[in-house]
Amino acid sequence: MRPTFTLLSVCFYALLSSGTSSGDDPRWLLSLVDLVELDYEDRCDMRATAAWDELIGSSKGLAQKLERDKSFGIFARKQTADVKSALNEHALGAGDDVLRRRVQLLIQPGDTLLETEQWMRLVTFGDTALNKLRFATDYHCGTHTNCTLRELHYNMARQQDENTLVQMKQAWDKNLPDMGEFLEQILPLLRNASKENSYNTVEEYWDSLGEYEGALLKAREIWDHVKPLYLKLHKYVALRLKGSEAVGKPLAVHLLRSLNGDDWSNLIELLLPKHPDVYLKLHTNLQLKELGGQKLYKEAEKLLNILQLGDIDPLIMNESLFNATCPTEIVDWCKPNRMRFVTCKDISIENYMEAHEILMKIKYKMITALHSNNTYVLREASRYSAIYEAIPGFASLLSLNPHTLNRVGLYPLDRFNYNPNHHRLVLQLIIALRDLPKLNYFMAADEWRLNVLMGRIPPSSIGSSWSEFRRNFSLIETSDSDILGDPYVIFNKPYIGKFMGLILKYQIYQSFAEELVSDDYDLVKHVGENNERLMDAMMQGYGSIWPEMVSDLLAKRENNLEYTGLTDYFRFLDEYLDNQLDPSAESNYVDDYVEPPVSEPPTEEVEIPEENEIPDEIDIKSSKEVESHNLNENIIDTGDEPNSKFSIETSTVGVLEIKNPMAAGDQNESINPKEASYNTYWWIGIGVGLAVVVILGAIIARKRHTHRKSLERQRRNNSCA
Ligand SMILES: *[C@@H]1O[C@H](CO)[C@@H](O)[C@H](O)[C@H]1NC(C)=O
Ligand SMILES: *[C@@H]1O[C@H](CO)[C@@H](O)[C@H](O)[C@H]1NC(C)=O
Ligand SMILES: *[C@@H]1O[C@H](CO)[C@@H](O)[C@H](O)[C@H]1NC(C)=O
Ligand SMILES: *[C@@H]1O[C@H](CO)[C@@H](O)[C@H](O)[C@H]1NC(C)=O
Repeated sequence: MRPTFTLLSVCFYALLSSGTSSGDDPRWLLSLVDLVELDYEDRCDMRATAAWDELIGSSKGLAQKLERDKSFGIFARKQTADVKSALNEHALGAGDDVLRRRVQLLIQPGDTLLETEQWMRLVTFGDTALNKLRFATDYHCGTHTNCTLRELHYNMARQQDENTLVQMKQAWDKNLPDMGEFLEQILPLLRNASKENSYNTVEEYWDSLGEYEGALLKAREIWDHVKPLYLKLHKYVALRLKGSEAVGKPLAVHLLRSLNGDDWSNLIELLLPKHPDVYLKLHTNLQLKELGGQKLYKEAEKLLNILQLGDIDPLIMNESLFNATCPTEIVDWCKPNRMRFVTCKDISIENYMEAHEILMKIKYKMITALHSNNTYVLREASRYSAIYEAIPGFASLLSLNPHTLNRVGLYPLDRFNYNPNHHRLVLQLIIALRDLPKLNYFMAADEWRLNVLMGRIPPSSIGSSWSEFRRNFSLIETSDSDILGDPYVIFNKPYIGKFMGLILKYQIYQSFAEELVSDDYDLVKHVGENNERLMDAMMQGYGSIWPEMVSDLLAKRENNLEYTGLTDYFRFLDEYLDNQLDPSAESNYVDDYVEPPVSEPPTEEVEIPEENEIPDEIDIKSSKEVESHNLNENIIDTGDEPNSKFSIETSTVGVLEIKNPMAAGDQNESINPKEASYNTYWWIGIGVGLAVVVILGAIIARKRHTHRKSLERQRRNNSCA
């Protein structure tokens, strides 16, 4: 196939340069664009193969990836030049918007327009740095100093000792690329890339890549409104970790059990409110059901089914690698259904949420590719669309919806209906620890880079300017160079699309949640039954700029980004944090927690198991059937139960907060989120935390044992996991 295209291209280019007979036939330009895109698709195929080999650690992987990525720059410059010169001779017809869009995306391809030597420098720096980070084996993970990156992540999440955490972080820092080289050789390439794409400043260039006018200004405005919530969460974390003297002061990044502070999820067990039932069960059940790796992704696929988006091509699942490192990476061959991903097998709530997000991303790409009008550039343009980020992010929110948790068997709905507000608070905390630090980090990474490029930082202090910026902007003490572990940063990509996507996903959530006729209704089902607007957005790909699609996506007249989607979603958490940070609130505290009845339906979630009672594989399977049977009954029965008033809002973690956060439990149950002051709390927290750790340790050890046995059994039976 390839030689034919190339030959054809040569013919067309020959025609082009002779500038004769083709005349003003509009089809001529169209054919050229078609050919250019086919060439791009071939390139994508080759680069994806190399990228995959590199990701799975094959020996020549990096060398091949470097070679293909480098030559891609030469190729892209040539294609751009060809399309540009064709444009000079053949003006675009007035009517053809799709062609106009394709041409525009092809002649402003972003960083690939850099001069060849500069492009090569950029990809050499980035590819090499990421490969080193990914495959280094000298990480420190507590007991050993010869760990892999996966082992580091795993142990960092569990490490309690501060000194060890510092050592882990330092050993990781040692594998980062050189900050001096980055500041002198790589980051300034952004100025040149801006010029090549005909923009005066990097900020304008990034706005154009984000396809939103004044994107960074808008992001700053949004951040100003989200910042108070971020600060409260930060104070609460400081209070719980270090006591009241630490509140409002920068926190050392290792205390967040994070390498660069962009995700605080690992802290959850230290921060749980007084009634963490939903967290404990969720955590335990994920382990018991061994929802990691391929099994987890199979489970996550079910959410797509309920959203009526169909399956993931089995080939994608079968060819992907589930025993590598997180965060998950998708490799795309730019052909319908030809994708794979590399992920890790570790079991955690974060990986559970991420799996849903990744599969939605893959689904998005599948849907975009199936739409025949979407040629290569309308699927793969180097643009940073908030919708591309928001729809997968929306799936991760739905993964913690009470109905989803029920369906996956992680937390039964009828148990959720007792004390729903307590559970909601815990779920919001889990989500906030994942999203708020990211939002702050995205903003910090873009702002710091712009500051450096605009010369706002005196040369003498530029080497330590990242940690300086991070301290002021995020209240986090980092090292001078830990931003260089981030692929977006080392490849000079803007975070603006991800930032806006994170905001937009809460707007999507809100738009669906507000539509529910009955609060009893299952939000996920509702989205499935009304998924056309998601489908429409996904089908369009990069066919038009994303801000134009927002109003259809939200089924609203305005197409604006609004921070209120996010702040409304977290309003419940917000109130809780206020109370926690105000010790005088203690006297008002009313504990409205109701113990759920003991006569629950049998579920596979395990109360604290006694010795010899730990279920093995077979027990789990059989109880699963029992459970699903009972749950169906329960859903039907809810209306007649005395506690049914608690089931208002069960379907939407968000609806309650959106409408009226405090008046929810009404009917002489004055729901009051005020909790015990942090003093009491701190001890309860530690107690619960320790108990959980000890119990889980025992459970997991037992599980491993039974798992190994059952694996052997399976191997003998030759059945699949
Ligand atoms: C790592 O080092 C420890 C001793 O420090 C050794 O027991 C272990 O085998 C090493 N592991 C690898 C994978 O080299
Ligand atoms: C940007 O381009 C100019 C002119 O081509 C060149 O002199 C300069 O070195 C480039 N910047 C970087 C960081 O390579
Ligand atoms: C991961 O799994 C693949 C097969 O799925 C196997 O070939 C490879 O050796 C495994 N790698 C590790 C590190 O376990
Ligand atoms: C594909 O694009 C053409 C215009 O180029 C348009 O007329 C047609 O409706 C589009 N098809 C779909 C399914 O959107």
